[in-house]
Amino acid sequence: MTTSQTQSFYDAVGGHETFVRLVHTFYVGVAADPELRALYPDEDLGPAEVHLRMFFEQYWGGPTAYSEFRGHPRLGMRHAPFAVSPRARDLWLTHMHTALQESGMTDDQVAQFWAYVSRAAHFLVNTTDEPEATPELIAIEETERPPSR
Ligand code: HEM
Repeated sequence: MTTSQTQSFYDAVGGHETFVRLVHTFYVGVAADPELRALYPDEDLGPAEVHLRMFFEQYWGGPTAYSEFRGHPRLGMRHAPFAVSPRARDLWLTHMHTALQESGMTDDQVAQFWAYVSRAAHFLVNTTDEPEATPELIAIEETERPPSR
């Protein structure tokens, strides 16, 4: 007898408890990272934590509460108000990596989860890391401009 062929990733990694642990560890990291924390508009990270947890649970074959409460994920649109630069993405992924290491998943499960989130995070980048225009940078740009005739 085996049920493993039809078992969802959600069940295989330990179900609800594992997702609660993973997303909580992630948000503990976000809360302690002033640069990333600044992107989150609310003083209370609790609702953001619940939304991300429900989203992951649904994505990996668990309960579909996310859609019931939040509707279609439309992740690109939902991240549009936030400046997701390559740097913000890398900070986000660093905290997710730590949370995955501490989640109790096997190495293979961590690798599967990581493949998904790292790909998704790259697609959510919606701005650059360009520095503010300082007088020095403006001067450099002007000297590099071809002479106008
Ligand atoms: C690339 C770096 C990322 C940054 C900087 C970022 C940032 C944010 C912020 C600021 C919010 C709003 C939280 C709030 O409502 O208070 C949010 C919400 C959310 N993010 Fe991200 N995020 C990133 C990547 C991802 C990825 C890779 C996923 C999923 C694969 C994801 C899934 C979500 C979900 C499901 C929500 C809640 C949407 C809702 O129902 O309102 N995010 N994110």
